[in-house]
This record gives sequence, C-alpha cells and structure tokens, in this order.
Amino acid sequence: MKKLLLLPILGILLVYACNDAELQIGEHVPNLPSSTYDYVGFLDDLESFVLPDEVSFGDQTIVFGEHNNVVGGASLTTHFNDKHNAEATLGRVLFYDNRMSKNNSIACASCHRQDLAFSDDVAVSSGFGGQLTTRNSSSIVNPMFGNTFFWDGRSRSLEDLALRPVFDHVEMGMDSEADLIQKLAREDYYQALFKDAYGSPTVTGDGIRSALAAFVSSMFSGDSKFDEGTKNDFAEFSQLERHGMALFFSEQTQCASCHSGINFASPSGIGNEYQQTSGTTNIGLDVVYDDPGFSDGKFKIPSLRNVSLTAPYMHDGRFETLREVVGHYNEGVQPHTDLDRKLTINGSPVRMNLTELDKDALVAFMSTLTSKSLLVDEKYSNPFK
Ligand code: HEC
Ligand code: HEC
Repeated sequence: MKKLLLLPILGILLVYACNDAELQIGEHVPNLPSSTYDYVGFLDDLESFVLPDEVSFGDQTIVFGEHNNVVGGASLTTHFNDKHNAEATLGRVLFYDNRMSKNNSIACASCHRQDLAFSDDVAVSSGFGGQLTTRNSSSIVNPMFGNTFFWDGRSRSLEDLALRPVFDHVEMGMDSEADLIQKLAREDYYQALFKDAYGSPTVTGDGIRSALAAFVSSMFSGDSKFDEGTKNDFAEFSQLERHGMALFFSEQTQCASCHSGINFASPSGIGNEYQQTSGTTNIGLDVVYDDPGFSDGKFKIPSLRNVSLTAPYMHDGRFETLREVVGHYNEGVQPHTDLDRKLTINGSPVRMNLTELDKDALVAFMSTLTSKSLLVDEKYSNPFK
C-alpha cells in the first residue's frame, strides 16, 4: 500500500527535476524583483523639468525663455495608468527577449543598448539573419513627450507607437504575429507577466505592443549636468561649457530654434512651423537624396539628450563625431531647394564662421546633456542576466 502511494509522488518529483533541468539548459528565465520597479515616479518631478527664463555670467546673459517649448501633452495623461508598472515590467522582458526573433538571435535591445542611451554604435544595424537596416538606430529619448518617432517622423505619438506594430521597422524574422504569440505563450513567465499586467494569462498582440510602449515610454532622461544646472545657475559649468551653451542658444547658430526646449527636440505643440512635416526638416546634408525621409531629404529633428553616447550621427550614421556634425553646420550645408531657411543667408547655405574654440565649446555643451541614471538604472536593464 505504502509503495503504491510513493510511486506517483516519485513521479511528480521526477517531472519537477526535469523541468528544472530544462530551464537551466535554456538559461532563459528573467530575474525579476519581488515587487515592481517604479516606472512612473518621474511624472511627479515634471514641474521642475523646465528651462529657466535666463541666466547671467558676469556681463553675459543667455535668454532661454524664447526657446521654451512646453513638454507634455496627450501622451502623458492618457498613457500612464495604474497598470503602468506591471505593463512596463512585461515590456522590459519583451524588450530584452531574443525569442522575439525567429532564430532567437535578436531582441529590441540588440539595436537599442542601455549603455548607449538605447542606440547602438554602428551606422546601420544587422537584423535577423544579418540583413542591414536602412537607417541608423535611433536612441530612445524621452518618448513620453510626444516627439515624433522614426527618422521620417512617420509615427506621431506614443499612442500611435502602441497601436501600429511597434516592430514594423525591424526584421526579426517572425512569420506572423500569430507565430510570435504562440511562441511566447509557451513560456510560463509570459503567462504570469500577462496576468499581472492585464488580469489574464493569455498572450495577445495588443498586449505585447502596449507593454513595449509602456516600457519605452518610461525611459526618462532628466538628470544630466545640464538639468542640475537649470536649478543652480549652471554653477558647475566650465567656461567652455558656458560658451557652448551661449552659442547653442544664439542667433548665429540657431541650434536651439530646431533642437528646442528642455528636450532639445523638434518644437512640439499646435501651430509650430514643423507640424505639417511631422517634426522633420532638411538640413542640407546632400543635394540629391537616395532616402527622401519624410520627403525631399527632410528628417526628424532629434533630441540631443544623451547625444555624446549615440555616435555615429544623422539618419544614415554618416558622421563619426560631434565635431564633424558641428563642421557640417559651420561650413558643409548644401544648397538643396528644400533647405530649411534657418540654415540660409540671403538664399545661400549659411556659413557660421565658428572658430576652433567655438566648435569645441558646442561639443562640450552637448556633452552636458547626458543622463546619469538612464544608463545604469536596473529597471531599464537586461532581466535575463
Ligand atoms: C535590427 C535593429 C533594430 C531592432 C532589432 C529594433 N530596432 Fe528600433 N530602431 C532601429 C532603427 C534603424 C530605427 C530608426 C528607423 C527609422 O527611423 O526608420 C529604430 C527606431 C526605433 C524607435 C523610434 C525612436 C525615435 O524616437 O524616433 C523606437 C521607439 C524603437 N526603435 C523601438 C524598438 C523596439 C520596441 C524594438 C523591439 C520590438 C526595436 N526597436 C527593435 C533598429 C532596430
Ligand atoms: C533647421 C533646423 C536645425 C538646426 C538649425 C540645427 N539642427 Fe541639428 N539636426 C536637425 C535635423 C533635421 C537633424 C537630423 C538630420 C538627418 O539625420 O538627416 C539634426 C541632427 C543633429 C545632430 C545628430 C543627432 C543624431 O542623433 O544623429 C546633432 C548632434 C545636431 N543636429 C546638432 C546641432 C547643432 C550643434 C546645431 C547648431 C550648430 C544644430 N544641430 C542646428 C535640425 C537642425
């Protein structure tokens, strides 16, 4: 009698042991914290996330006010709800999971690396099976402020990013959404994560998109040297950084009229001059464009936050260094018929006449825009370690 009872118990133990062994062979289970990370805390600090009106150093005054560009808007109020932390937790796992690709070789994080402000370090990136993307991997910078997304501005808001296939820009090799769903549903951890986020363990395409958007929209960069400076009159800024900041916000360069406001990105809001072009414009990189972008060589005005980490630069990764980028604006702008008029003088491409010191200063200033926590914060890190 006793022996008969023992058999099934042994059987159960054996199944358990095997399962365990299988998991270890796969080495593919996310390590998640016992309670969820806070993915929404930054919302409380947004009131102080603004440019000051002006700052003075001796007899020099930099007026920021005219460059101010209100951040926020629809995305902030509709996207963040009480389920956000659970959704972002699921989104983090999806973002780093190479099972999102057909042969388990590629994850979002392959091209969007945390240590590089969620960009990568090559001009174009290889996807599933090694084929190359046609454009440079964007860094992911404060997407919650409703900038436009993708180099051609084809996606306009977080809601849009969540609704359209988030991964329409990459070749991850999955044959269909149904295949992806079926594949992910085989993992116990997804059933648990979906239950936490949506109340049901069923894996769905909408759930995947929404969770990825929730995670991505929580990536906040707002604690750079520049941000500290806005609160203490830039006391820690070197002479060179101050000079660069003055140039950046000057008439001579116009940098801040395109890379505008506290997010150093395309001006947002109703009625701004770039609304019709989804935040894109032509900066005269070429006279003839193979890749037209939005149209006629117009590309998104990207945020410059974390820019010192996201080389190479521009939609095609043509410039290796920030110094080369500054060189383009100073003396390289081409006379394209659609060239933004801010980069012209009397109808010809602008020549800014920056000195070598000026160029160093602009680079030094842009380097103050690097977030400290984004690059190391565990809540954005790879859970499969
Ligand atoms: C093979 C490399 C690669 C992979 C994998 C990849 N991306 Fe991208 N990502 C890119 C490139 C290249 C761009 C720019 C594409 C464009 O503008 O047309 C981009 C742009 C983006 C942007 C727009 C950023 C902005 O502000 O304009 C977001 C958001 C994004 N990717 C999220 C993701 C997510 C989420 C995943 C996983 C589902 C993912 N990416 C997988 C290469 C990749
Ligand atoms: C007329 C609007 C405009 C002005 C003025 C402007 N930019 Fe840009 N900037 C853009 C656009 C658009 C792009 C992307 C172009 C592309 O990739 O084709 C860009 C790209 C960049 C990049 C590369 C970012 C990346 O992630 O690849 C840097 C750095 C940059 N600009 C710095 C500056 C500086 C410094 C100034 C002033 C000297 C300046 N910009 C003036 C519109 C502008």
